[in-house]
Amino acid sequence: MNTFVRFERDRDVAVVTIDHPPVNALSPGVVEGLRAAIEQANVEAEVRAIVVIGSGRTFIAGADVHEFQKPTAGEYVAKIRATLSTIEDSAKPVVMAIHGAALGGGLETAMAGHYRLIAPSAQVGQPEVKLGLIPGAGGTLRLPRLAGVAKAVEMCAFGAPIKAQEAFAAGIVDRIVDGDLRAGAVAFAREVASQPVRRTRDRQEKLANADPAIFSAAREQASKKWRGQTAPLAAIDAVEATTKLAFADGLKRESELFYQCLRSPQAKALIYAFFAERAVTKIPGISGSTPTYDIARAAIVGAGTMGGGIAMAFVNAGIPVLIKETGQEALDRGMTNIRRNYARLPQEAADQKLALITPQLTFDGFDQADIIVEAVFENLAVKQQVFREIDGISKPGAILATNTSSLDIDQIAVATKRPDMVIGLHFFSPANIMRLIEIVRGSAIRPEVTATAATLAKRLGKIGVIAGNCPGFIGNRMINVYGREAQFLLEEGATVEDVNQALFDFGMAMGPLAMFDLVGNDVMRDIAAISSTAARSPLVLPQLCAMGRLGQKTGKGWSRYDESRKPSADPEVAALIESTARSAGIERRIISKQEIVDRCILALVNEGAHILEEGIALRASDIDVIYLTGYGFPAWRGGPMFYADSIGSSNVVARIEEFGWTPAPLLKRLAAKGKTFT
Ligand code: COA
Repeated sequence: MNTFVRFERDRDVAVVTIDHPPVNALSPGVVEGLRAAIEQANVEAEVRAIVVIGSGRTFIAGADVHEFQKPTAGEYVAKIRATLSTIEDSAKPVVMAIHGAALGGGLETAMAGHYRLIAPSAQVGQPEVKLGLIPGAGGTLRLPRLAGVAKAVEMCAFGAPIKAQEAFAAGIVDRIVDGDLRAGAVAFAREVASQPVRRTRDRQEKLANADPAIFSAAREQASKKWRGQTAPLAAIDAVEATTKLAFADGLKRESELFYQCLRSPQAKALIYAFFAERAVTKIPGISGSTPTYDIARAAIVGAGTMGGGIAMAFVNAGIPVLIKETGQEALDRGMTNIRRNYARLPQEAADQKLALITPQLTFDGFDQADIIVEAVFENLAVKQQVFREIDGISKPGAILATNTSSLDIDQIAVATKRPDMVIGLHFFSPANIMRLIEIVRGSAIRPEVTATAATLAKRLGKIGVIAGNCPGFIGNRMINVYGREAQFLLEEGATVEDVNQALFDFGMAMGPLAMFDLVGNDVMRDIAAISSTAARSPLVLPQLCAMGRLGQKTGKGWSRYDESRKPSADPEVAALIESTARSAGIERRIISKQEIVDRCILALVNEGAHILEEGIALRASDIDVIYLTGYGFPAWRGGPMFYADSIGSSNVVARIEEFGWTPAPLLKRLAAKGKTFT
C-alpha cells in the first residue's frame, strides 16, 4: 500500500501488515495506508476476510504523539476516525491480530475491527489520560460496548493496561492465540469469512442499565488519584455520554471532550513529560555501539532501608543479590523488612524472589559480583572505608556504585584503584518502588560504565537520569533551596500549615515541611549542610533536631503525628518559630499563598538554571524528569523548568528580582532573548 503498510494475500485472506518501527504508531502514512489496504481488500473479489497485524515488537502503540503537538492535530485525529470507520464498515470481516501492545489509538483500531485475537504476552489499554487526553477515535464508545461500562471507565480514566487473559475475560478480545499469531489469525479469518460481520458500534447489550454509581465512584477515585487533572474526569464524562447517546452523537461528544483536553496546558505538559522521560537515555558520547558490562550478579553493602530496597529492585528484575551487614541484628531487621514487603505476593512468587537474596555478614562471594552497590551511612569517611574494602576484593571489571544522595563521587572514587569504574547510583526511597535513579558521573568515569548504568536502570524498570558531580547532584541540590525558602517563609510569618497547604494545592505530592517530616529532619539537615554556602541559614531546623523532633519517625517534627501518622498543627512549633524569628529581628507579616508558591517553586527554577548552565544536568527536561519521578512535582505542570517556561522567562526573572534574589545568568539570557528552557 505504501512504505508503512504491506498488503499481501494468503489465498482468500488479505493480510495487512503495519510496518512502522519502533512501535507502529499511527503516524501519517500509516493511517492512510491502513485505510487504502482495507478498501483494496474489499475490492479484490478473491478476498473473503482481512487480517490486520503489526510487524516487529508490537501491534500499534497508539496515535503518533508527535502529531498532537502540531497545529494540524485536529485533522490528524479526524483522519484516524475516518480510517476506523472504513475498517468497521468493511463488508468483509476484519480480524485484528494483537501482539506486544495495543494502546490508545492502537486499541481503538483493534476495536473497530470485527474480531480481535491476542498473543498471551500482549496487553491492551487506553493510557491517554497519562498524556492529559482521552481516547479520541471512538475508544470511549467501543470499549464499553465490548467490556462493559465499569471496565471501560476504569481503563479510560485510570489508564493502566491489562494483560491478554484479563482482556479476554472482559470481552475485549475473542481468542488468545498460542504460537504463530499470523497463522492463527489467518485460520480464524477463514472460520468467520462467511459469517455476517459483527460491528462493535452496533453492540448494545453491555450498555444497558449502567449503574450511575459507577460514574460517581470513579469521579471520586479519579479526583484523588489524579488530583488537579482534568482528563480523567473528561474520560468518565465521555463513557457516561456513551450510555445515553446514539453512536454518532456519542462520537461527537467524545470529540468535543478530546479537543478540550488536547488544547489544555495539562496535555501540553504531560506530552512534554512523555518525551522528556524518553530523552534521558540519549547521552552525548554514548551510543548503541558503546560496549556495556554484563550484569548477572549484584552485591549490596548495607541492609538498611536503602540497601534492602535496592536489593529488591535487582531481584524484581531477576538479578540475584548478596546483601551484607556488619551485625546480625541489623541483617535480620533488613531481611524482615524485605520479607514483609514480599508477603504481599503469592507464596510461590515471594519464595522465588527471596531465593535470589543471600543475606550475610561477610564479603563472601563479592568477588563474583558484576556490580557492588554501597548503601551505608551517609558519611564520606565511612563510604571511603567501604570502597577501599570492596575495591580489594571485587573482580576486575566489576562496577562499584555508591548510593550517596549528595557526597562527592570523586572523593569516594579515589579511595579505590579504579576510579574509572566508580559511579553514583542514587536510588530514591523506597528503592523497589520509586522509578528514579540519578546516575552520577565522577571525573574519571569510563563511558562503558555510564552506558552500563543506563542500561541497568532500564532493566530495573527505572528512569536513569545522568547527573554531574556536585553537592546534592541535581535533585537534592534543588530541594535544599526549596526547603530553605519554605523555612524562611515560616520565619517571616507563614505557618507550617500555610506553607504545606499552598504547595499541596499547587499540586506537589506533599508540602515541603511534610516532606521534611517524612524523610527525617536530621537527614534534611545533613543534606543541607553539604551545600550550604548561602549567607542566610534557616534557624529552626537545627533546634527541632536538637529537640529530637525528627519527623514522623519520632511522632513529632514540624507537625505532630498520631499513631496512624496523621499530622496536626503543633502550637509548640508555632511558638518556637515565632520566638526564634523575633530574637533574630526578622519582621513578621501575613504572607499570601501566591508568594509561598512562587518563592518555593522559583527557588527550584533558579537553582535548576544554575545546574543547567554548569552542565550538571544534560538538559532542562532531565531536571523536570527528576522532579516528576523523584520529588512529587505535579506531572500536569511538566516539571519546574517547563513550568517556568509556561510562565515566561522574563516574568520569572521579574518575580525573582522582586524577591531580592539574583537571577541565574542563564535565566537572564533566556529572558533577554525571549527564549525558554525547554
Ligand atoms: N507516538 C510516538 N512515538 C512513540 C509512541 C507514540 N504513541 N510510543 C512510543 N514512541 C516512541 C518513543 O518516543 C521512543 O522513541 P525514541 O526511541 O526516539 O526515544 C520509541 O517509540 C520507543 O518507545 P519506548 O517507550 O522507549 O519503548 P518501550 O519498549 O519501553 O515501550 C510502549 C513501548 C509502547 C509500551 C511505550 O512506548 C508506550 O507506552 N507508548 C505510548 C503509548 C500511548 O500512550 N499511546 C496512546 C497514544 S494515543
